[in-house]
Amino acid sequence: MCGIVGYAGKRAAVDILIRGLKRLEYRGYDSSGIAFVRGDRIEIIKSEGRIDNVEKMAAKFAETSPGGNLNDVHFGIGHTRWATHGKPTTQNAHPHRTGHVVLVHNGIIENYQELKKKLVARGHQPQSETDSELFGFLVLEEMEKGASLMNGVRLAFDSVEGACSVVVMSERELGVLVGARRGGSPLVAAIDPEGGAILASDAQPLIDITREVIFVEQGDVVVGDSKGVHFFDLKSGAPIQRKTTRLDWSVETLSKQGFAHYMLKEIHEQPTALVDTFNGLLDLAKRGDPDPFPFADREVAKLLESASDIVLIACGTSWHAALLGKYWIERWAGVRVSVELASEFRYRQPVLAPQSLVIALSQSGETADTLAVVRQVNGLGNKTMGITNVRGSTLSREATAVLYTSAGPEIGVAATKTFSAQLLSLLIIAGHLGSKKGRKLEPVFDELLRVPHLLAGELAGTLASRAHAVAKAIAGYKGFFFIGRGYSFPIALEGALKLKEIAYVHAEGYAGGELKHGPIAMIDPNMVVVVLAPRDSWREKTLSNLEEVKARGAVVLAIGDPSDEALKQASHHWIALPEGARELDECWAPFFLSPVVQLLSYELALLKGTDVDKPRNLAKSVTVE
Ligand code: AGP
Repeated sequence: MCGIVGYAGKRAAVDILIRGLKRLEYRGYDSSGIAFVRGDRIEIIKSEGRIDNVEKMAAKFAETSPGGNLNDVHFGIGHTRWATHGKPTTQNAHPHRTGHVVLVHNGIIENYQELKKKLVARGHQPQSETDSELFGFLVLEEMEKGASLMNGVRLAFDSVEGACSVVVMSERELGVLVGARRGGSPLVAAIDPEGGAILASDAQPLIDITREVIFVEQGDVVVGDSKGVHFFDLKSGAPIQRKTTRLDWSVETLSKQGFAHYMLKEIHEQPTALVDTFNGLLDLAKRGDPDPFPFADREVAKLLESASDIVLIACGTSWHAALLGKYWIERWAGVRVSVELASEFRYRQPVLAPQSLVIALSQSGETADTLAVVRQVNGLGNKTMGITNVRGSTLSREATAVLYTSAGPEIGVAATKTFSAQLLSLLIIAGHLGSKKGRKLEPVFDELLRVPHLLAGELAGTLASRAHAVAKAIAGYKGFFFIGRGYSFPIALEGALKLKEIAYVHAEGYAGGELKHGPIAMIDPNMVVVVLAPRDSWREKTLSNLEEVKARGAVVLAIGDPSDEALKQASHHWIALPEGARELDECWAPFFLSPVVQLLSYELALLKGTDVDKPRNLAKSVTVE
């Protein structure tokens, strides 16, 4: 789950590397480093902690070393780490040097112990505790036997097990970058139009240079130099051609645009994410009775229509979205839906019907467990569909069909706008399948058009200020329960996850009906219970749960309809959903509740003083299991 970047060309490489790493910091941020060529030497600057440390060290290097002007450096690699093997120390930070070979690595070398023994027996002395450094010795050995850097990297893969990507350079072939990918660790390459090549774990570091990118497939080697990039097959070394994709992301979308944090900006971008997703998925020219939800992608529509049942698989927040998908698809389309955690599904002996369609949800499209399920199901001969926010991601390339959400880049580690976009895509699937079965869902479509406006109207004003005020009042409590029923239940799970994730506060999400089966024993005056109670079919029952926890001393924060005086009176703290939301079908409540619990977590995290965009121990893209 690390981030890697490499540049060879005419521009100032150190600047590109550091800027690129900052954009990849979401992938891991416990240590980082860069390596760059000056004269005939590769210099390495690395440090534990954030990329700022390396940036400062590079500035100092430029000031203090003779001829240290880093603007003359045109070739280098960089890395931001999420530790797997070895603590997040400077020693374990990448790049790693093994003789004249310097490398950065993302992924896991599974036969690390055995490989280390062999390399030590052959006289090598690893300086770090990482698995990554071992790869460098393998390249070095091959080059010592006469291989080129490219072939050295290729041959090194014969001795390692596990999925990984590397970018490697050598003092013997200055000016050449070799990237390789095997398995799930992504790598994207691009030609610098001014002459050169750039490689990175995702497209964000490339965007300042070009929007024409090439997604490195697993089993590819890419060689970059000041003339561009060339692709080869990792096994045979034969040249191959790869297609260029034009990205629709812009540099502006990668900045905070005046918000204090990316997470806050992304919470506020939800109305736009909904509109863009809806426009991206549907063919509006074909819209109307009988299908108000015609998919623009016919393959997606065909797959959905031919499914006997649907299995939604995902991890984390995407799994919460999947839970809601089940409610909607079963309600409107009458199609059986099961929801599975990818990490569990992959190690079971799952039973699928021949026409079961497996839909994998992953905003990043790179989550290791989710991808493993897609591969497993493809192998069983069932059809798979990916729902992802990232064009060109591994999921988009490996699933039988793909449906893109259009939330734009999400940088904050906590998923916010991508969650709402996933919800909408699932609701559209439900609407499409329901219409095919003769359900009259035109009113749902009409309401869909109103949701982003209602949300935009109150998100920045009332909702944000209420979340701010309430967070101040409840910040000191020991723990939080989020409860909800029906469509609010997955949001209760999501609210608790958000709070744990960014504020490091103990929080649990429960279906209201489950409280009496154990969790209510936890309730006391030190506990806040966040009650999600929009005016829907479950409100009365949720209100009873509210009374039960209140009777046991809990501090109650209710989130509900602005006109719901009874709910307001029953609770200690109160946040009203947008006016007008109650005129809509109850299926839309999650689209309003979700930004509220996100804002609440954000405000509580601010009060706790945590690093909102890069919470400890986490990485946005979980590319290892
Ligand atoms: C949510 O805030 C987390 N970042 C996490 O639970 C995330 O949803 C999970 O890791 C799955 O990621 P994916 O959607 O990219 O597959």
